[in-house]
Amino acid sequence: MKIRATTKFVAAEAVAIFIPENKSFSSLKTYFKTILPEEIVSEISLRINEADFSGKKNEILQIFPKSKGVKKCILVGLGELKQKEEVRRAAGTAIRALKKLKAKKVAFVFTEPEMQRFVSGAIAGAYEFKIGDTKEQNRIESLVLCSPVKISKKDLDQEVSAAEAVNFTRDLVNSPAGHMSPEDLEKSARQVAKGKNVSITVLDSKKLLKLKMGGIMGVGQGSEIPPRMIILEYKGSTKEPVALVGKGVCFDSGGYNLKPTKHIESMFSDMAGAATVLGIFHWLVKTQPKIHVVGVLGAVENMVSGQAFKPGDIITFGNGQTCEITNTDAEGRLVLADCLHYVATKYKPSKIIDFATLTGACVAALGNEITGLMTNTPELLQSISVAAEDRDERVWELPIIPLFREKIKSEVADLQCWTAGVSAGSSMAGAFLENFVQDIPWVHCDIAGTAYHESGGDELSPRGATGSMVQTMCEWFRFTQNNK
Ligand code: BES
Ligand code: ZN
Ligand code: ZN
Repeated sequence: MKIRATTKFVAAEAVAIFIPENKSFSSLKTYFKTILPEEIVSEISLRINEADFSGKKNEILQIFPKSKGVKKCILVGLGELKQKEEVRRAAGTAIRALKKLKAKKVAFVFTEPEMQRFVSGAIAGAYEFKIGDTKEQNRIESLVLCSPVKISKKDLDQEVSAAEAVNFTRDLVNSPAGHMSPEDLEKSARQVAKGKNVSITVLDSKKLLKLKMGGIMGVGQGSEIPPRMIILEYKGSTKEPVALVGKGVCFDSGGYNLKPTKHIESMFSDMAGAATVLGIFHWLVKTQPKIHVVGVLGAVENMVSGQAFKPGDIITFGNGQTCEITNTDAEGRLVLADCLHYVATKYKPSKIIDFATLTGACVAALGNEITGLMTNTPELLQSISVAAEDRDERVWELPIIPLFREKIKSEVADLQCWTAGVSAGSSMAGAFLENFVQDIPWVHCDIAGTAYHESGGDELSPRGATGSMVQTMCEWFRFTQNNK
């Protein structure tokens, strides 16, 4: 979908006009007359009165104007706008309604200075996932944003790039394991690495064994497809890098602690952390900020076979620490441990942020709308929370306390990956990961609940992958790291 902005109206096959609830159309007329042809404004005004349209959230009124220039028109209610997020949602609702009208060239007309939300809402709302040759139905080719506030091309391009990065992540996460194996994930990373200023290194299983990375290798040893660590480097400056680490478990069967029915089906989405990092790289390549970022993806499958690791096994990580496998389903932290240690030692980043669908406990605690954050540096977490707020994504801190650091110790090894009798599953995983980041400021994002919505879907995302945290991180990089 091509997107451009203008302060004047451009003829389109179908137009969505956004109206807030607390302002009557007649009070907005002056504004609308600066954008839309006068006859259309009068015609709309008439229809609004006839139909008693009041601009409530999700209210839609369809009009087929007689005046020239617009064949199909929908009025979309913005609600009371108590939360700016409503703009984003209304944009999603509008783009879907326009799709249904089978229009290819569409326009948004609005008076609120909320370009960011209109753009990202439209791109997110238009998203559909299809595999193979099946064409997306009623694809919209172009969207023109018409508003009295001038929008710079640079700002618009930034928004479009961030929103497209979200959809890129969604495609990766929605792809089932048969289409998104560790090998396929590597192929996708290589595709991203074709962009300007990015390079890629892949540590195959031979190299991982040489580096004694028994975490990622242990998890992957039950699969026919060998694990690999994929390292991307975006070099827009020579400063020390920020590191992003992603859990890329392409299928999590649970291993010998096999997941039951109702829990196993969506486990192809357990690589969402890696997909989040790739989405951010997609944005970096597109927007070329003057920053230095290293991304590490731990790509692996957690399967059952005669070769698979077993409960009771003891593995040794790349940093020499040992771990008792008390549950083969707590595999994510084992993969991340090796990735975190590798990036911390090799690249000496100024910060590390990891993304992982790590614990069911996070879903139990925070549900599907809130990402759980854990940290060793509260200010870093705070800066990510601010970025999330601007992007209408929700995050919440979960604590790591000294007791949890004690409880993850094992009698037979340095650590255990799961501790019987401790229910704070997300924080325990956080306490585990903390051992692998040295003293580098670090935030762990548990996206188990937010990355993939098994039921429902809403104005901004159909059922399935959401691309959560991609918007937040683009914002965070853009406003806290650029030019520093
Ligand atoms: N991939 C799962 C976590 C998960 C659960 C992601 C639900 C998305 C939705 C993870 O590997 C896992 O199985 N975690 C276990 C850990 C436990 C055995 C310590 C869990 O949370 O149940
Ligand atoms: Zn698991
Ligand atoms: Zn998992």
